[in-house]
Amino acid sequence: MTLRQTGLNTGSHDLPVSPALEAFMGTRWAATPLPADQRVPGHPHFPGRRARLSAAFPGERLVIPAGRLKVRNNDLDHRFRAHSAYVWLTGLTGEDQADHVLVLEPAGPDGHEPVLYLRPRSPRGNHANGTEFYRDRRYGEFWVGRRPDLAEAAQLTGLRTEHLDLLDKLLDGPQPPTRVLAGTDPYVDQATGRPGAATRAEADAELAAVLSELRLVKDHWEVDQLQLAVDHTVTGFEDVVRALPTALRHHRGERWIEGVFDLRARAEGNGTGYSTIVASGAHACVLHWIRNDGPLDPNALLLLDAGVETDTLYAADITRTLPLSGTFSPVQRQAYDLVLAAQSAGIAALRPGARYRDFHQAAMRVIAEGLADWGVLRIPAEDALAEDNGLYRRYTLCGSGHMLGLDYHDCAKARADRYLDGVLEEGMVLTVEPGLYLQPDDETLPVELRGLGVRIEDDLVITADGAHLMSGALPRTAPAIESWMADLLS
Ligand code: GLY
Ligand code: MN
Repeated sequence: MTLRQTGLNTGSHDLPVSPALEAFMGTRWAATPLPADQRVPGHPHFPGRRARLSAAFPGERLVIPAGRLKVRNNDLDHRFRAHSAYVWLTGLTGEDQADHVLVLEPAGPDGHEPVLYLRPRSPRGNHANGTEFYRDRRYGEFWVGRRPDLAEAAQLTGLRTEHLDLLDKLLDGPQPPTRVLAGTDPYVDQATGRPGAATRAEADAELAAVLSELRLVKDHWEVDQLQLAVDHTVTGFEDVVRALPTALRHHRGERWIEGVFDLRARAEGNGTGYSTIVASGAHACVLHWIRNDGPLDPNALLLLDAGVETDTLYAADITRTLPLSGTFSPVQRQAYDLVLAAQSAGIAALRPGARYRDFHQAAMRVIAEGLADWGVLRIPAEDALAEDNGLYRRYTLCGSGHMLGLDYHDCAKARADRYLDGVLEEGMVLTVEPGLYLQPDDETLPVELRGLGVRIEDDLVITADGAHLMSGALPRTAPAIESWMADLLS
C-alpha cells in the first residue's frame, strides 16, 4: 500500500522526452523563495483550534485527511476542495492540498504534536521525480502550479511537516488507538483498516462529530470571512438583476443567470459555496433546482439561491425571490408577504439561550396560520402544527435554516444535543430561510396559487442579546425589492 502516487501522471498523447531535453530542462532555474513573512490567512487562530481537538482525545492518534483528487475524465481531475475539518485545523485551502493529511500524534501526558504530511514540490533536475515539474499533469508545477516544499509549508502553517511517503510508514507501523476522519481519503481508510475496523467505527464517528461541534461557534476572524462572503454575494445578486434584460431574451435564461452569479463568485472568491439555484416560475417549487435549464417567464417569480465562497473557503447562502416583471402581482405578493412574515418571526426568535428549533417553529407558526387563513389548510393551524400532524409541511417541505461556515450546510456531523436539539450561542452563524412551495399539480390549492415558489434566506450571527443580520444590504420587503430592482435596471 502506498499513499504516494508512484510514477509520472502522463497522458496517452504526451510526447516522449529526449535525454537532451531532459538534461536541458533540469538546469538554470533561479531560486524563487517564499516571502519570509507569508503565513496562512488567520494564522493566529489555528493553534487554539488544534489544542481544543487535542484536549478531546488524549493519548489517541487523530488522522484528518484533506481528501483526494477525483478523476473527471481520463487525465483530468475535478477541481479540488479540501475537507473543511482539514481547512479549519491548518488554514490551508488551495487546490494543491489534495492528498495531504494532518496527524495529531499523541505526545506528552495529555497532548498531541500536529504533523502535516504532504506532497512537497518536486525539485527540478537531477533527482528522483526530477522531471515531474514539467511532465506530470496531476502534480507538476508547470501543469497545475507551484506547491510549497516542506520548509515553506512549515512556515505557512507553523506545523512540523513531513513527506507524504513517511505517512505510509507511520500507518504501517505499530498503531496507538487511532481515530480517522473516515470516508475522506480512500488510501488513508485502507491503510488504517477502514471500513471494517468495527471497534473503531464509533470512535471515528465521534471524531467527526467533535470536529463539527468545535466549529459551531465562530471566532471573530471567521465571522469576518463570512461577512466577506455575504458582501460578495450581495454584489452577485446586484449583477444578476442588471443581467435580467439579457437573460429574459435568452432561451435558457436560468443558465445565463447562473453564469452571471458564478462569474462574480469566481472573480471575488474561490467560487460558489454550492451549485447556484436559479428557478423561474414553478421550478422554484423544487428545493434544489440546479438544472437551471429553463427560460425566464417575464410574468413569474425568479428564485435565486446563491452564495460566494471566499478564498478562505467560508460560504454565504442567500435567497431572494424576485418578480421578473419588476412588480409583484397580487397573488405573488400574497405568497411573498406570508413567507416574509414567517422569516421575520424566525429572525426575532434568535438569541443566545434560545433553542435551535425555536426560530423554525416561530416561522412555521406564521406559515400554518397564513395557510389556514387562506383556506388552503382545512384544519386549524394549531392542529397542523402538532408534531403528530404537520400537514402544513406539504407546502414547506424542509427545515427553515442551518448552520453556515466553511460548509454551506455547516457542522453537519454535530450530534443532535448540540445542534438540532441544542441551544444557540453567541458566535453561531446560521441561515433563516422559510419557504412556500406550492406545486403546480397540487389539487389542494386554488389554481391561482399553483406553481408559486417563494424562499427568503438571510445569514445571521448570534450576538450577546440577539442576532445581527449579515445580509441586511439586500432588500427583504416586497416594496424594497421592487425599488432596488428598478434602481439597478434604470
Ligand atoms: N439554501 C438552500 C439550502 O440551504 O439547502
Ligand atoms: Mn440555505
